[in-house]
Amino acid sequence: MEPPSFNPEVPSIARVYDYLLGGKDHFPSDREVGEIFIRQFPGAVAIAMDNRACLIRAVDFIAAQLGIGQFIDLGSGLPTADNVHQVAQRANPAARVAYVDNDPSVLAHGRALLAEDDQTIVVQADITDPQAVLGLPEIRALLDLNRPVAVIASAILHHVTDAEDPVSLITAVKEAVPAGSALFISHFRTLGDPDSAAMEEVLQEAFGRGAWRTDAQIAEYFAGASLLEPGIVPCALWHPDKDPGELTGYQRLIVAGLAVKP
Ligand SMILES: C[S@@+](CC[C@H](N)C(=O)[O-])C[C@H]1O[C@@H](n2cnc3c(N)ncnc32)[C@H](O)[C@@H]1O
Repeated sequence: MEPPSFNPEVPSIARVYDYLLGGKDHFPSDREVGEIFIRQFPGAVAIAMDNRACLIRAVDFIAAQLGIGQFIDLGSGLPTADNVHQVAQRANPAARVAYVDNDPSVLAHGRALLAEDDQTIVVQADITDPQAVLGLPEIRALLDLNRPVAVIASAILHHVTDAEDPVSLITAVKEAVPAGSALFISHFRTLGDPDSAAMEEVLQEAFGRGAWRTDAQIAEYFAGASLLEPGIVPCALWHPDKDPGELTGYQRLIVAGLAVKP
């Protein structure tokens, strides 16, 4: 199959995030946006790092503590140091992971990383059409949607506009998975503060999208599901593996929660 094509002149969310995480898969256009964030917002790298570390802890928790062995990772991003399938398979070697992202660079790099793992797939799809994503033959072949699935939406829903209705999107996914399924979400959060407003503006300028949402809006994603302790909290405070110390204002602008469908 031909490798997917992409335009390196246009910055991509996945590659800018990779740049902030200290990865190597980015072009000058991505670095330019990354540098704007780093210069204007000294906590931007901490936000990316906190988010990624929280995702890793959550995947381990889901596989090891909840005993769920199937994952669908919406907006999975570029492969990085520790990936969802590696974390899940450390806890449960039989774990299966479907990565979904609409960025062709994710597909290209994901295929290279995952070529030898038949429990893991990467599909290029737009999550704003959840029924289409869940109906994809590759996903149906890998995941049994009659058994609990862990739905991961880490740092993606703030890239979905209000017009695209991220709450309905997540509701559709929750309805499609059985009781006992898990939902992990991390999300940019606004406290009505100048930093989140200014960061939202930079994101809008770079990508034409990006929405910091309030605690009440973020809680809506979990409606009808049982939030596990400690609820929706800054990523650094979600089951930390070391003392996070006093959080900076920036660290409070990325939150996460894990819930189980009753
Ligand atoms: C900030 S990255 C987060 C990556 C990873 N989930 C994490 O938390 O480390 C957001 C990812 O969502 C993807 N994305 C944004 N909008 C999307 C959409 N509508 N459908 C699928 N993927 C999308 C981007 O391409 C990017 O890879």
